[in-house]
Amino acid sequence: IFSDANQASAAVARELAELIRLKQATGDLAVLGLATGSTPKKVYAELVRMHRQNGLSFSNVVTFNLDEYYWIEPDARQSYHRFMHEHLFSQVDIKPENVHIPDGTLAIENVRAYCHAYESAIAQQGGLDFQLLGIGRNGHIGFNEPGSPLQSRTRLITLDGLTRADASADFNGLVHVPRRAITMGVQTILEARRVVLLAWGEHKAAIVQRAVEGLVTESLPASYLQNHPNATFVVDEACASELT
Ligand code: F6R
Repeated sequence: IFSDANQASAAVARELAELIRLKQATGDLAVLGLATGSTPKKVYAELVRMHRQNGLSFSNVVTFNLDEYYWIEPDARQSYHRFMHEHLFSQVDIKPENVHIPDGTLAIENVRAYCHAYESAIAQQGGLDFQLLGIGRNGHIGFNEPGSPLQSRTRLITLDGLTRADASADFNGLVHVPRRAITMGVQTILEARRVVLLAWGEHKAAIVQRAVEGLVTESLPASYLQNHPNATFVVDEACASELT
């Protein structure tokens, strides 16, 4: 629990920078699972600052993003491709070939094979060293909505009503919010060697309390993290207000 999101984000960015530098020292790649949305923006801003001011290089970093809307053009204002390029990738020295974000423009008949290949690409890199997460107000991680099974892997899902409602302002109205998305699965996330979930503000306090202190249940996918050997919820004081 940090006093505010700035301090929390700086601490998480420091952990990421340490991992990247440790891997550099041994000539290895750092394999990162990344999230979008409002929550991780300050972590990315801090990593960009470290790149500019402290010489932190991303030349040995490989990334896999959690999710993308389906269907959406990569340059659409709301696309997660655009988000990642604006907030991180265009501002650091990551190799374009090391960046992976689910493709929101696939023909439907190609989605299944694509999702399988996404999983294989993660496995080929030796799995995720670090997975950064946010949490939806319904307890989703990635776009693993309530009801997502423990064994789920990268796949096309139907977005929950609350998720679409929360996105409607960005899309100028609910009717414009895509109905589906491609997301890494629960199992994909739980296989990461380290997981950090970020949540800020009072509006996430109730769901964070249930995820951390309630039962592990598929109706609240973030609760699966209780059984991960190396997962941390990083929250600000407002978000911690309902923890007992
Ligand atoms: C985004 C993602 C989602 C968000 C969650 C919280 O890649 O996977 O699970 O982390 O919806 O979104 P914000 O941060 O906008 O509150």
